[in-house]
Amino acid sequence: MTNRTPLDDSPSDIAGLSEQFSRLPQFRSTNKQFIVGNPYHRPMNPDALRGLDWGRPLTQETFASNDSLLANRLLMNVYESDALFLPEAGLSKFEGEFVDFYHQDSKVLGERVRPTAENFAFGFLDDSVGVSGKWDEESLRTHLRHAVDRANNHGGRPVFDAILSSRDPRTAANTQIAQMALDGLTEATAMAQNLGGAFGPEQSELFKIFVDEFGYGVFPAKHSTLFMDMCRSVGMSTTPHHYWFFYLPSSIAINNYFYWATRNRTGFFRYIGAMAYLEASFAAFFEELNKLFRAVYGDAVDTRYCDEHAHIDQHHGRMAIEDLLIPLARKHGPVAAKGLLQGVEEIQLLARLGDADLLAQLTWDPALTDQVAATERTGPVTEIDSDTAFDTEVTSADTRVQVLGGEALLYNSATGDPLRVPQGKAVIVPAGRLYGIHADRRTQITKEPVA
Ligand SMILES: [Fe+2]
Ligand SMILES: [Fe+2]
Repeated sequence: MTNRTPLDDSPSDIAGLSEQFSRLPQFRSTNKQFIVGNPYHRPMNPDALRGLDWGRPLTQETFASNDSLLANRLLMNVYESDALFLPEAGLSKFEGEFVDFYHQDSKVLGERVRPTAENFAFGFLDDSVGVSGKWDEESLRTHLRHAVDRANNHGGRPVFDAILSSRDPRTAANTQIAQMALDGLTEATAMAQNLGGAFGPEQSELFKIFVDEFGYGVFPAKHSTLFMDMCRSVGMSTTPHHYWFFYLPSSIAINNYFYWATRNRTGFFRYIGAMAYLEASFAAFFEELNKLFRAVYGDAVDTRYCDEHAHIDQHHGRMAIEDLLIPLARKHGPVAAKGLLQGVEEIQLLARLGDADLLAQLTWDPALTDQVAATERTGPVTEIDSDTAFDTEVTSADTRVQVLGGEALLYNSATGDPLRVPQGKAVIVPAGRLYGIHADRRTQITKEPVA
C-alpha cells in the first residue's frame, strides 16, 4: 500500500486534482459492501469524479444528489486525514495504510482540492440564507429562542414515524444510526479544531462543553464510547465508516459542514451559531429518539448515548448561547453577529434538507415494489460478477435497473438484506435514492432513466 506515484502537478484544474486524489491507494475500490475494521479505507470512484461538473456548484435542489455524494465523500476524506484514527485491532495489519492515509503527498493534494470543493458543496448557503439587518444581543437571543422553540415544538418527526411504520423498523432504525455514526463515532472532532489559539474567556467556555463530550477524560463516559455501546447493543459495527457506502449525501454534507466551519478560522462564528442551535435543540430530540429506539429494539438497546444527550445538552444549549454566542456577539460586533446568525440559519436549512433525504430513503422499500418484466433494452449492458467493485450512487431520475442474465442484488440500506432481482426482471429506483448493485455470479444489467 505504500507503493505510490509522486504528486503530479500538471493537472492544475480541480477535475484533474480531484481524480488524482481519488486514485490514492487508501481510496481504492472494493468488491465488498462494507468496510471491515479499517478506518483508512474509504472508496472513491475516480471515473464518476472525472464526470463531475465542478463549474456547477450544488444548490438546495441538488444537496442530496449524486454530485453531492461524490464531492462530500471527497471532502470528508480531506478533512478526516487531519484527525487521528487507529484501528481497534492495532496497527500491525494496517501499517502501510496508516502511512498512506496520512502521507504528506495525500495531504497536500487534498488541501489543493479543498477550497474549490468547499465552494462547490457549500457556496449555495451564502445565497440561501439572508441575515441582513442590524442585530443586537437581545434580538439575537430572541431569534435563537424562536428557532429552538420551533425545533422542539414541531409538528411531529416524520423520520421517526417512517421508521416505526416501515416494514422492518429495525433495519430502518439501523439506517438512522448509520447516518448518526458519521459524527457519533468521532464526536466533537470538529469542535476540537477550535480549542487552540487565544480568544479569551469564550475559549474556556468552549472547552467546558468539549470536555463533557469527552466524558471528562473517562473513556467509558465519552460520548463516542456511548455511541459505540449503543451500536454494539443492536448488533451494528463500531468501526468508523463500516457503512461507508450507505451514508446519504445529505448526512455526509451536514457532517462536513462542521468540518468546513472549523477548518476555516473565519467560519468560527458560523460554527458557534450552528453548534449552539444544535446543542439547544438536542435535549428534546434525544428524548424522543430514546423512545423510538426503545419501541423498535425493546430493552436490549443501550440508550445511554441518548440519555446522556437528553440530559447534558440542556446545559450545553444554555452554555453555548449564554456563555459563547452572546458574549462573542457583544465583543466582536457585526462580523460576529452575522456569522453566528448564518450558522443558526444554515444548520436549520441543512437539517431540513437532510431530514427530507433520509425520509425519502426510508420510505423507499424496494421489497414492496413490484418487479416488472425486463423489457427490450436500449442502453448499454454492464456485466458484473462477485469481483466487480461495489459502489453506491444516487439516481438523478427514476431509473429502471434490468437484469438480463444472472441475478442482481440491490442494496439500499446499511443493514437490510439486499433485494434479489432475477434474470428477466426489472426494478425502478426512484429519483434521488441511494442504491448499489452487487452480483454473486456473472450477471448482465442495464440502467436506464424511465422515459
Ligand atoms: Fe455529545
Ligand atoms: Fe453536547
